[in-house]
Amino acid sequence: MKSVISVPLSDRAYDIVIAPSGLDHLGSWLANRERPLIKPGQKLLLVSNPVIFKHYGDRAVAALTQGGYRVSTCILPAGERYKNLRSLEKIYDAAQAHQLERGSALVALGGGVIGDMTGFAAATWLRGIAVVQVPTSLLAMVDAAIGGKTGVNHPQGKNLIGAFHQPQLVVIDPNVLKTLPAREFRAGMAEVIKYGVIWDPELFEALEAATRLDHYRYIPEELLHIILTRSAQAKAEVVAQDEKEGGLRAILNYGHTIGHAVESATHYRGVNHGEAVSIGMAAAAAIAMAQGHSETLARSLWHPSEAARQQALLTKTRLPTRIPAGLEAENLISLLQGDKKVQDGRVRFILPEALGRVTITDQVSHDDLYPVLTALGAQG
Ligand code: GLY
Repeated sequence: MKSVISVPLSDRAYDIVIAPSGLDHLGSWLANRERPLIKPGQKLLLVSNPVIFKHYGDRAVAALTQGGYRVSTCILPAGERYKNLRSLEKIYDAAQAHQLERGSALVALGGGVIGDMTGFAAATWLRGIAVVQVPTSLLAMVDAAIGGKTGVNHPQGKNLIGAFHQPQLVVIDPNVLKTLPAREFRAGMAEVIKYGVIWDPELFEALEAATRLDHYRYIPEELLHIILTRSAQAKAEVVAQDEKEGGLRAILNYGHTIGHAVESATHYRGVNHGEAVSIGMAAAAAIAMAQGHSETLARSLWHPSEAARQQALLTKTRLPTRIPAGLEAENLISLLQGDKKVQDGRVRFILPEALGRVTITDQVSHDDLYPVLTALGAQG
């Protein structure tokens, strides 16, 4: 099963290729595109981490070499705490040592951290060279590798240093998920469920039909293909309509507002990003249920029966939906003010109205939030 999804961004358009064993075709797919901006014979710098490189590095290098490219590698330590300027400098040093030119490219082989850092290095080296994304985590496959957000963390906050830089090609090989730790798989599923709620009710229903969603090994091949293609399609459609997050793209932040506050309050330890998003989605659902619908005058912005279906999916994926013990509601509310999504001092929330449809609002007050957070387990 091979699917190709286009991200139609005029002169920055590119394809997302989803195919089992796609890793072994990297070089030929790159060389045989209609507009081969990365010509065979060019230099490629493959960036990865030791864990991923051990599993897939040789195959990726062999495939790129077979495509006619001259490949060198840069291996960075694994983990979010290395997503910083120091690691970036190592990529620049390797780019310099291998004398990358304007026609050269970086290839990111790894999860979101590798993808974001490699993308940012590509955005800035020689004022911008090409990047190819080869995501190896579910989260990176369905979210981080698509859409051109790149960057590194600043000691004061995540992704504060960054740029938009679209890849030339994204290659998703579902087989590499076999080596992804189960908890990381579930974290990626949080973003998949997110797409079902904000954009694609059919994806949501396909997830509902599954017996188990909590481990790669329980997901039939066909369902995995649906998960990857429909998520990538959702992200591609949103990005194509609003590349730089002037409006619509903000809906991808569903669950991320409270989620980021939880991540920050737990110092990015204890809960991972997907788990925090899951908690954030449960909170957004509770806020939406408590808000009145101004147009229809219905009592709930989101019907409780649909919110219950979201809750059931998160539970089936064994994702947390309660705020970790010891976090204070007031602290979480004040952390929201430091979020990148704050505009004119008001926190923007993405709230569901129906499966597949959300609204963006800055009308959620302290008094709306406090009871929701305490009901979800925050200390009063
Ligand atoms: N991960 C959210 C976005 O790409 O906009």
